[in-house]
Amino acid sequence: MENKHVLDVTDIPRVALDAMNDVHKDELAIVNNVNAAIISRDVDKISLLCKEWLAHTNAHFDKEKYMMEKYDFPAFHCHQNEHIEALELLEKTLAAWTQQNNLDELAIYVQKTWPEWYINHISTMDVMTSAFIKQCMDNE
Ligand SMILES: [Fe+2]
Ligand SMILES: [Fe+2]
Repeated sequence: MENKHVLDVTDIPRVALDAMNDVHKDELAIVNNVNAAIISRDVDKISLLCKEWLAHTNAHFDKEKYMMEKYDFPAFHCHQNEHIEALELLEKTLAAWTQQNNLDELAIYVQKTWPEWYINHISTMDVMTSAFIKQCMDNE
């Protein structure tokens, strides 16, 4: 049977804050559902799930931004810039999907571009940020 997961939960690097780990896990579940819908070539389901994905990503990044500002994280701009770039690419990709319904192009983003970005971003920016914030919280 074809594996419908772009990543498994165990592939996601764990960060110091469980609230962040939960968000990362939830987002992956949505993306794996998108991928399953791509494999089934279910255009309506893909479109519906992509809306959910975009909303979740916005909320995900907003939560991290809020925490970074609250605890005055020194590399705020560095982390935030990666979010801005990633969100732009996601929006562009989903807009192209809405216009053209090109399954192959969406599949490249979902199966390759996004998982690579996700692992890289979490293992660097999110790991660093959560360690800093956890230390601040422990000292409160
Ligand atoms: Fe994150
Ligand atoms: Fe992040």
